[in-house]
Amino acid sequence: GDPRLQGISQAIRVVPHFPKPGIMFQDITTLLLDHKAFKDTVDIFVDRYRGMNISVVAGVEARGFMFGPSIALSIGAKFVPLRKPRKLPGEVISEAYDLEYGTDCLEMQIDAVKTGERALVIDDLVATGGTLSAAIGLLERMGAEVVECACVVGLREVKGQRRLDGKPLYILVEPRQLDECF
Ligand code: PRP
Ligand code: MG
Repeated sequence: GDPRLQGISQAIRVVPHFPKPGIMFQDITTLLLDHKAFKDTVDIFVDRYRGMNISVVAGVEARGFMFGPSIALSIGAKFVPLRKPRKLPGEVISEAYDLEYGTDCLEMQIDAVKTGERALVIDDLVATGGTLSAAIGLLERMGAEVVECACVVGLREVKGQRRLDGKPLYILVEPRQLDECF
């Protein structure tokens, strides 16, 4: 494997019982404080996605905003924020997704992407995949092609590449203290 991944994993702080009992929170703010680990993270994504003709990097509020713009600038793509409800002006489309209790929603401005554009969706972490599914839905409704979803942290499937709604999902590192996480 890539020798940089261990440093990335170790730069993520695990916070037990945050934001509620039983959750082993994967805190990527400590990764952002570690210049080498932060740069390695962005570099790995940039190396993977440059040359793939991606014109849109769509980042999920809030923590997808911390990685997406750096990747977009380096691969020559635009950055599109996918935001929580009622944050974006103008005409937007919305996709609801399920939470443990209730639902939440992501929105995208309709003039942000054009039919046929090739998009990468970026977030810090995938758990149930509900957030990424909503992001894929927004982009596809505007006619964009989602090439891949990418996260810093997530569970890889035991066999083969994990996929989400038929889209490839690229994950850098597994959650730390796995058995207590999920
Ligand atoms: C967290 C995380 C992902 C999402 C993953 O975001 O940053 O976006 O949950 O969960 P899922 O795969 O089960 O959908 P959160 O909604 O807590 O908000 P934030 O990024 O704004 O802090
Ligand atoms: Mg999030």
